[in-house]
Amino acid sequence: VFSASTPWVWYFSRGTGIVSIVLLTVSVALGIAQVTRLEARGWPRFVTSQLHKTASLTAVVFIAAHVVSVIADGYVNVRWGAAVIPFSSSYQPFWVGLGAVATDLLIALTVTSLLRQHIGARLWRTVHWTAYACWPVAFTHGLGIGTDTSLLWVRALSATCALAVVGAAAWRFTTFPATPRRPTVAAAGRR
Ligand code: HEM
Repeated sequence: VFSASTPWVWYFSRGTGIVSIVLLTVSVALGIAQVTRLEARGWPRFVTSQLHKTASLTAVVFIAAHVVSVIADGYVNVRWGAAVIPFSSSYQPFWVGLGAVATDLLIALTVTSLLRQHIGARLWRTVHWTAYACWPVAFTHGLGIGTDTSLLWVRALSATCALAVVGAAAWRFTTFPATPRRPTVAAAGRR
């Protein structure tokens, strides 16, 4: 529908891609901090949940900008369908396909979270588990297709993001049960 041939669109798509993966990293880390009820003096829990929400929605905005600029870039031929239909792109089908999978998961995560009050906790939680798949898929997409993967600072940033997510997830699953258990009526009565 539209196409731009200036290299700035390409720089923009690379920049927004990198910012997106950093924001997704922050979002996953804060989501884990929220579910594990992490808090500290001067850092109440509502700050974590607000930041998790803000980081996630900001990531959605940057990913939208990333996708629009990739499609607008006249140098590569990526169409709208390729952004949401996995592995349908004629350009780099595998790597772009991973980006589409991550985008689909992110759309599901965002929609169910915004409608959480209406859809019930069980469905919301089931969908939210896919966040643990969304991040590695998006990360692999960036590493695989990125022009800037070979740059030292991009590698250092990627390693930092990976360490943050792997570390947070490892801590979450070793310290806390998969689904935090609510106290049973009997146990609550004993308090
Ligand atoms: C969760 C969603 C996504 C995230 C977090 C993400 C992230 C990234 C990152 C980090 C890069 C590497 C930038 C660089 O090193 O230069 C990248 C590159 C790229 N992405 Fe995505 N992406 C996502 C979705 C998509 C989708 C849906 C498409 C297809 C429309 C797409 C197409 C591309 C292309 C073509 C490049 C290569 C740009 C270049 O020439 O370097 N991405 N993405």
